[in-house]
Amino acid sequence: MSRQWDQGFYKLSPEERRKILTQQYDLTPEEGHYLTEHESRLGNELVENYITDYALPEGVLTNLVVNGKRYTVPMVVEEPSVIAAANNGAKRVANSGGFQATNRPRMLTGQVVLENVQDPQKIIELVEKEQATLLQVANAAHPSMEKRGGGAKKITCREAGQFISVDVYVDVCQAMGANTVNTMAEAVAHWFREQGYDVLTAILSNYALDSLQTVTCEVAFADLATKTMSGEVVAQRIADMSSLAAVDVYRAVTNNKGIMNGIDAALIASGNDWRAIESGAHAYASQNGSYRGLSTWRLTNTGLTGELTLPMPVGVVGGSIGLNELTRINYKISQIKTARELAAVVVSLGLAQNLAALRALATTGIQAGHMQLQYRSLALSVGASPVEVDKLVGSFSKQTHVDQEVAKKMLNEIRKESSNE
Ligand code: HMG
Repeated sequence: MSRQWDQGFYKLSPEERRKILTQQYDLTPEEGHYLTEHESRLGNELVENYITDYALPEGVLTNLVVNGKRYTVPMVVEEPSVIAAANNGAKRVANSGGFQATNRPRMLTGQVVLENVQDPQKIIELVEKEQATLLQVANAAHPSMEKRGGGAKKITCREAGQFISVDVYVDVCQAMGANTVNTMAEAVAHWFREQGYDVLTAILSNYALDSLQTVTCEVAFADLATKTMSGEVVAQRIADMSSLAAVDVYRAVTNNKGIMNGIDAALIASGNDWRAIESGAHAYASQNGSYRGLSTWRLTNTGLTGELTLPMPVGVVGGSIGLNELTRINYKISQIKTARELAAVVVSLGLAQNLAALRALATTGIQAGHMQLQYRSLALSVGASPVEVDKLVGSFSKQTHVDQEVAKKMLNEIRKESSNE
């Protein structure tokens, strides 16, 4: 049931919206002030019903080597140990020459879906016969892309159950290209409607199999060893973890979450649509009918060889990329100039992230490294001030088990000690 105050809420100014929410939800003056303080110049232009900005921490991966070039990659993420792990994995791979990334042409696909089709073969023949016209229709809808050397390049037909999907393949050059492809697909849909066909919908597909990015790497035994385990044993155990993710969906999902830890963080920092990449990645993980780990690690005579392929239809222009000041600065830091370069870097980062997680899981377990970094968040969550955090985290090392309750108790003790000093 709609409430009086939320009708036409979108027509109000951010200030008016905050005022209403403050009254409706009993926000304290400090909470209301917090919302106002974090309002940004562009927020209200970028999203609807805008009230404030939600900030996430940004850090950098400093040593990612891809195709011989060393990158510093901004990452935006709220979870402790993700950036540390990315650095850890990337450093081990850099010692063996870094990541090798393929450099293939990339295209996006727009679907024009027809329904109530009596004779699918007739559509296939029509699309073949009218290929030039259809490409012209698509390109006329967004001519600037063709002028840049891109644009609609081919159109094919696919049966999808009782539907026919007319797929429009578009080279979107350096852009993310979703709006371009949608505009072209709608123009082609209009053409089909004019020929008397029933068009159900026209929309970009995020299953970007024509924007696949593959990266490979090697890691030497010496760079895998821990204080208590030889590099040979660690390598074998990582290869076994990889085999496990290939056969067990429970493990595969977690393995892939670890890969996406780094990929999403880099995508957010680069202003890309990480939801599109996430959905494409998980669909790709299921391409053979069952969900599997996206990465592969194999034992060699000298160490491990790793491989990761993902649909990576990213862009370096368009969307909110040019609008967000921090995104613009991030491109200066990463020195990434093209969409292909960004795709190569992002997928390499995913494989580095995966290596660090698997090495931890196959040796000491995740908690040892991860929890050490998580402790700072735990300290903040029980109310430690920034000056108390170091002391509190230090005191955790004397405990056999640390949780919220223990952390609160330790914080109280620290405060008592300080007040006695
Ligand atoms: P370590 O081996 O104890 O670190 O790693 P180290 O002190 O030996 O340092 C080695 C290198 O690691 C450093 O080289 C840095 O590159 C990096 P240096 O600069 O000293 O020459 N490094 C750091 N970089 C930035 N900040 C730091 C830092 N520490 C080390 N603070 C570490 C400790 C936590 C990195 C390691 O144990 C690790 O990689 N663990 C995995 C952590 C992880 O994956 N976290 C993600 C959250 S858990 C999750 O969501 C995913 C998961 O479920 C996925 C899956 O199941 O597959 C695990």
